[in-house]
Amino acid sequence: MKKRFDLSGKVAVVIGGAGGIGGAIATGFVEHGARLVMASRNIENLKLRAAAIGRETGGEATAMGVDITDEEDVIRLVGEIVARYGTVDILVNAHGANKKAKGLDLSMEDWQLLHNVNSMGTMISCKQFGRIMTKRRSGKVINLSSVRGIRANAGGNSAYCSTKGAVDMITRCLAAEWAPFNVNVNAIGPALIATKLTEKQMKEPGRTEKYLRNIPLGRLGKAEDMVGAAIFLASAASDFVTGQIIYVDGGLTAIG
Ligand SMILES: NC(=O)c1ccc[n+]([C@@H]2O[C@H](COP(=O)([O-])OP(=O)(O)OC[C@H]3O[C@@H](n4cnc5c(N)ncnc54)[C@H](OP(=O)(O)O)[C@@H]3O)[C@@H](O)[C@H]2O)c1
Repeated sequence: MKKRFDLSGKVAVVIGGAGGIGGAIATGFVEHGARLVMASRNIENLKLRAAAIGRETGGEATAMGVDITDEEDVIRLVGEIVARYGTVDILVNAHGANKKAKGLDLSMEDWQLLHNVNSMGTMISCKQFGRIMTKRRSGKVINLSSVRGIRANAGGNSAYCSTKGAVDMITRCLAAEWAPFNVNVNAIGPALIATKLTEKQMKEPGRTEKYLRNIPLGRLGKAEDMVGAAIFLASAASDFVTGQIIYVDGGLTAIG
């Protein structure tokens, strides 16, 4: 059974790999044997995180810069990774942005920013790494969606929620398109987790307490809670799973 979750020798790319969730998944992948590339815009931050992962795990983690909203830059990144590692086996899209504003106050600049990073960035990344995977007829793509892809609220989330709804449908459509090429495309849907992305909203008075009332398991999730699902979706254990959004949310979507 152990081998089903083994990532030994697999080349894994985590976009947003120095972020809260991306960093936890990156560490988990290296612990399970993957050769890891972590990529985002802030290369200094990535290098620090990659070095920490190397020290913690004794494995390999490499930092590479990319702006996931720039298709030419992503093409360059794919080329660099293939030149260095020969291929890409696993892609995780763990980049993201959020800004809250009620619909009547929402600026279209903010709308566009969120759609550029969260949905278009995910599409560009899937498209350009998917070229390698469909050609070699093997691969695992994991997108970071959110419970907000299927659960609305009145808290100024129309831009963010709509990007995550788009991520869900990108996931399902590409799963259908790439199934003949033996490429699995799935997503993880977390609920609220304390990271840089949620720093501001976690400080809102009463916010955490209110959120907890909707979580049957009675606590907030941690970035590390996402790692098991990510290893499952990256490994042979999930070979017959595609087009799914796996909610790692303490039961929130079960009762909501
Ligand atoms: N935290 C939560 O409660 C929660 C809940 C549900 C879903 N999610 C989703 O989980 C994912 C990870 O979120 P997180 O909480 O881990 O956020 P985070 O800690 O803020 O990390 C986000 C990462 O995205 C990268 N990024 C942003 N814009 C980018 C761009 N244009 N190109 C490349 N990388 C970019 C950032 O790195 P650079 O600044 O170096 O580019 C950063 O490492 C996101 O998709 C988020 O929507 C989070």
